[in-house]
Amino acid sequence: MKKSLLIALIFLLLGCVGGDDEGQNFGNIFEGTDGLMLNQEEHPDGWGRSECFACHPINEIHREDRTGTGVLPLEDIQEFVEQEGLDSCPICHGDNGVME
Ligand code: HEC
Ligand code: HEC
Repeated sequence: MKKSLLIALIFLLLGCVGGDDEGQNFGNIFEGTDGLMLNQEEHPDGWGRSECFACHPINEIHREDRTGTGVLPLEDIQEFVEQEGLDSCPICHGDNGVME
């Protein structure tokens, strides 16, 4: 393998590790129209689906406060979500268009 390619690969891998630490980033959630609540316009890919973890791995969400206030109790949210699982999501994010 060419040396330059090897170096590029190493940087790519390092980049992945760094990205994981930051978790998922869709920007400041409160900048949208409905705040924390999801709506079809802001959530076109996930709308109407109930298996949230398929696209939002539990270990990658609620890792960073992007509200700019620094007051979000992220640790409490993580703990609550771990205990309640998928049942917890609608409490803060609405029903996501899922029909019972
Ligand atoms: C098929 C994949 C998929 C599924 C399933 C899914 N989502 Fe999403 N979600 C996305 C994508 C992609 C985004 C980024 C915003 C966008 O472009 O739609 C997102 C963004 C979000 C956001 C951030 C919205 C914002 O305004 O920044 C929240 C909160 C969210 N999803 C919650 C959920 C919840 C809760 C569920 C389950 C009820 C769920 N998602 C299911 C793909 C999905
Ligand atoms: C106690 C309230 C609460 C519960 C329960 C909750 N969330 Fe969140 N969620 C938030 C808040 C607050 C944010 C905004 C974090 C930020 O970006 O500053 C958020 C942001 C998100 C985001 C955007 C990416 C990110 O990491 O910030 C996704 C995706 C998401 N939540 C998915 C879920 C899913 C899936 C569930 C259920 C398993 C869930 N949430 C349960 C409060 C909650």
